[in-house]
Amino acid sequence: MLKVNDNYQKLPGSYLFSTIGKKVAAYTQANPDRKVIRLGIGDVTQPIAPAIIAAMHRAVDEMGKAETFHGYAPDLGYEFLRNAIVENDYRARGCEITADEIFVSDGAKCDSGNIQELFALDNRIAVTDPVYPVYVDSNVMAGRTGTYDEGAGVWSDVIYMPCTMENDFVPAFPKETPDVIYLCFPNNPTGTTITRKQLQTWVDYANKNGALIIYDAAYEAYISEEDVAHSIYECEGARTCAIELRSFSKNAGFTGVRLGFTVVPKELVFEGQPLNAMWARRHGTKYNGAPYIVQRAGEAVYSPEGKAQLKEQVATYMKNAHVIYGGLKEAGYTVFGGINAPYIWLKTPDGMTSWEFFDFLLEKANVVGTPGAGFGPSGEGYFRLTAFGSYENTVEALERIKAL
Ligand SMILES: Cc1ncc(COP(=O)(O)O)c(C=O)c1O
Repeated sequence: MLKVNDNYQKLPGSYLFSTIGKKVAAYTQANPDRKVIRLGIGDVTQPIAPAIIAAMHRAVDEMGKAETFHGYAPDLGYEFLRNAIVENDYRARGCEITADEIFVSDGAKCDSGNIQELFALDNRIAVTDPVYPVYVDSNVMAGRTGTYDEGAGVWSDVIYMPCTMENDFVPAFPKETPDVIYLCFPNNPTGTTITRKQLQTWVDYANKNGALIIYDAAYEAYISEEDVAHSIYECEGARTCAIELRSFSKNAGFTGVRLGFTVVPKELVFEGQPLNAMWARRHGTKYNGAPYIVQRAGEAVYSPEGKAQLKEQVATYMKNAHVIYGGLKEAGYTVFGGINAPYIWLKTPDGMTSWEFFDFLLEKANVVGTPGAGFGPSGEGYFRLTAFGSYENTVEALERIKAL
């Protein structure tokens, strides 16, 4: 008889956003006259930029003619896209990355969840806390995290690195030495980041300890400060200790279009095994490539018109971030993030738990945010608002919060 993977039974509760969705649905059903403003989920709202739409149209037309039709894409992705990535995301920043180290995919969520397949089950993973839930949950499913302590909200075999206002949201090296370290900067959910210098210390730490860093740079397009690295490969020695995850979701609005990539340098060799070859094998076996039309859309992200249009999109979201940050400050909140990321992280007032503040904000201001506790124990007492709404809704939400 079939036996199921009982690691799935260990996963606690329902996924954060489904709980929020249910609470919001119940509230709107009970209060149909209220206009609820959603600044919770990290989904974009602006339409795909014209340069990208034009590229997609051209690609669609190509698919309709025998001479220009495309079937299965090459395993790693089309060269036109991988070359554009190398030139624009890496060479332009002085990073040594080659096209055969780029693996095009349908987004960073899948890659961040799947990458752990390359590692033995007895590796210890370390995560910043709070954390993007996929890193931990995908390791739970694999059976790498031990037992769950419901009260503390932690797994026995996961190393948590708290990031709170007390340490300026900069993780300290853990007491136990991890084998795999998940880092995400600029960070979801806190919206904060670390400097290039601080990132360099993590690269040095990983190299010294034979650990691997999984570096999630999904929010790189929002960096405004000079001393923040756009890629971990700006740090010396990162080619021997780091895999980088990238997404087109937040810089180009591809949350529905779906495109991302993972960089696996050839120098990443552990126990004599090159991770690049292992990921190529995994990619070739389990994945048949992002659609041609979408990869052409990705190429257009790097065109001069695409770049100009996307710069404006990002600026629009960051204008919202400033509205949220400034409005909350004005209302007396303690606020973080919002400078190099589209997320604002606030301290809940009057000792409220993050879920209490969620209910308070929903009921009193009809504004939806995300409780920090949903991202890990150190997220308790914090709350996330996103800058991905429309400008008008963002302004209205902050007016309502200020009036509380
Ligand atoms: C840190 C982080 N990584 C990855 C993703 C997912 O990216 P994608 O849409 O490319 O799957 C998100 C989405 O919110 C994210 O916040």
